Amino acid sequence: MVNKRFLFVGVMMLFGPMFFFHGNPTKAQADLADQIAKADVEYGEYLSGECITCHQSTGASVGIPSINGIDAEIFVSIINAYRSKELENKVMQMMAGRLDDEQIISLAAYFSSLPD
Ligand code: HEC
Repeated sequence: MVNKRFLFVGVMMLFGPMFFFHGNPTKAQADLADQIAKADVEYGEYLSGECITCHQSTGASVGIPSINGIDAEIFVSIINAYRSKELENKVMQMMAGRLDDEQIISLAAYFSSLPD
């Protein structure tokens, strides 16, 4: 007869990491939403000074896309994609590469609060 407890431990050793990693993206998502909710919007506004030399503060797209009103979590993924060079634009790769996580989250909170 198979010892049930022994079987349980064996199964958890094999598949436990899968449960663990499976739970992680959801937790990361919740953490990000939490960080955005607590972000310093005024710091974001301060940092945005550099961005609006190219991105129109009026929300108009004149060659360069408007970034006003982009959902904050999407904004963070876009900037991270430029930072990791997944998105190609050289200028934005350079801009994003200079920002740390706190600055990106503050910018996301600020720009998402603007009407698009
Ligand atoms: C020198 C000009 C310039 C500056 C400064 C600049 N950007 Fe950009 N940005 C661009 C261009 C051009 C694109 C379009 C790139 C592309 O087609 O991939 C872009 C794209 C973006 C996008 C994606 C928009 C979309 O709809 O896909 C975001 C978000 C963004 N910029 C955020 C920022 C932030 C935040 C800053 C300030 C830290 C900033 N940008 C500073 C030129 C600039």
